[in-house]
Amino acid sequence: MNDQTEPPQAPRASMDEITGLAKRRGFIFQSSEIYGGIGGFFDYGPLGAILKRNVKNAWWREMVELRDDVVGFDSSIIMHPSVWKASGHVDAFHDRMVDCKNCKHRFRADHLPSLDKCPDCGMSGTLTEPRNFNLMMQTTIGPMEDSASRAYLRPETAQGIFVNFKNIYQSARKKPPFGIAQIGKSFRNEITPGNFTYRQREFEQAELEYFVPDDGNDLKCYEEWVARRKQWYADYGVRPERLRFYELTEKERPHYARAGTDVEYLFPWGWGELESIAHRGTYDLDAHMKLSGKDLTFFDEAAKAKYTPILIESSAGMDRTALTMLVDAFDNETIKDENGKESSRVVLRFHPKIAPVQVGVFPIARNKPDIVERAKNVEVALRPFFRTQYDEGNVGQLYRRQDEIGTPACIMVDYESLDDNTVTVRDRDTMRQDRVAGAQLATYLHDKLGGGR
Ligand code: GAP
Repeated sequence: MNDQTEPPQAPRASMDEITGLAKRRGFIFQSSEIYGGIGGFFDYGPLGAILKRNVKNAWWREMVELRDDVVGFDSSIIMHPSVWKASGHVDAFHDRMVDCKNCKHRFRADHLPSLDKCPDCGMSGTLTEPRNFNLMMQTTIGPMEDSASRAYLRPETAQGIFVNFKNIYQSARKKPPFGIAQIGKSFRNEITPGNFTYRQREFEQAELEYFVPDDGNDLKCYEEWVARRKQWYADYGVRPERLRFYELTEKERPHYARAGTDVEYLFPWGWGELESIAHRGTYDLDAHMKLSGKDLTFFDEAAKAKYTPILIESSAGMDRTALTMLVDAFDNETIKDENGKESSRVVLRFHPKIAPVQVGVFPIARNKPDIVERAKNVEVALRPFFRTQYDEGNVGQLYRRQDEIGTPACIMVDYESLDDNTVTVRDRDTMRQDRVAGAQLATYLHDKLGGGR
C-alpha cells in the first residue's frame, strides 16, 4: 500500500487556492455570507476554530504557563473613554483620508499616486484635502445615544493591562521583572481591510507586557524577548526562509521607544507583519498616571523607593498567526504510486500541536461491522489524549481528506487487526505506513506527535 513521494516541486500556492481550501474544509468563512458578507469580518469554521485555539494555546503555554515570571489577565473590551485619551488613541490613532466629491468614494491618502485625479471615477480636481479618520470603533453605553455616552471598542488589549498594573502586581505578589499576558479581541475600523484574515476590523491579539526595573538591563531583556519569540515560531515549524525579524530604525520607531522589531512573514502577496516587539520605556504607565492622577509606580521594599518600571512589549496577531500556519503548511505535491503513475495531492504540513485533527481513524471497509466497531473503539480510546476524528469511506479519499486538513497520523483498522490487534499508522508527510500493536498505539502516537493534545 506504500507509495513513493517525490520531493515537493510545486510552485507556491496562490491565496485563491488557500482561501478555497479554507472554505471547502471549514477553516474560515466570510462573515454573514448569506447576506453578501461584511468587509473585514470572518468566521472560523469547525477546523479553523480549533486551529486558532491551538495557536492561542501554544502562545499561552510558552508565554504564561511555562514561566514563573508571567501572569495571565483578561480585561474588558470596552473601557473608560479616558483610557484612550491617555493612550493617545483618541488624538493620534488615525489614517489620512480623502473623499471624491463626484463619486463619493473614500481613499487613504497614502495609497493614492496623486491627489489630482480620482482613481475610481477618473475625474480630476474632485478629491478633498486629506482629513484625519480615527480608526477606533465606537459604540454608546446606556439608553442615550449622545457624545456623553460614547465609548470605544478597544483597538489593542494592552491598555487593559496598563491601567490594572497596580491591581495585578499587588494581588499576584509580583515585582519587576515580571510580565502580564492577555489574549483577546481588538477592533479597528480599517479603511482597507483585505488579504483574507490578514487585515480585519475585528481580530485577536496576544500581548505580553513585561515590566523591568530601570537597572540598565532593559535592552538586554528586550533582546531576550526577541530571541524567545524567534524560537517560538521555529518551535511551531514556521519555515525560517519565510520569516524575518526587521529591526526598526530610530526614525521608524515612536519617539519614546528605545528599540523595536517587527516579525514579518512572506505571504503570497509579500511580507506582512505578524507581531511587533518594542521597548516602550515608561511611556504607557506615565501617560495613565498623568491623566488619572493615580499612582502606578512600583514600590521597591528593599530600596524603600518607588519607580516606574520600563516596559518591553510583544504584541502578536492571532488571526495573522493562524493564517501564517495555514499558508505555511500548504503544499501541493506530485506523488507517484508503485506503478509510477503520477498524481498530485494537497497536504497541509501542520506542526502536530497546531493540526486541528492529530489522528484520523478509519475502518478498511464500512460494510464489515466487526471492523467498523473496532475502529470506532480505537478512536474513542484515543480521544482523551489526542484530537481524533473517525471517518469511513473509500480508502484513497479518506487519506486525501485528512492530508487536506493536515492530520499528521491516520490509523487504518483492517482484517488483520481483528486477528492480532494491530493497526496501520500512516504518516502524512512520507505516506509510509507502520504496523503497530494495539497495546503500543498510544505510546507510538505520543512519540510521533511529540506529546498529546
Ligand atoms: N499594543 C501594540 C499593538 O497593538 P500593533 O502593531 O498595532 O501593536 C500588533 O498590533 C499586532 O496585532 C500586529 O502585528 C498584527 O499581528 C495584529 N493586528 C493589528 N491590526 C490588525 C488587523 N487590522 N487585522 C488583523 N490583525 C491585526
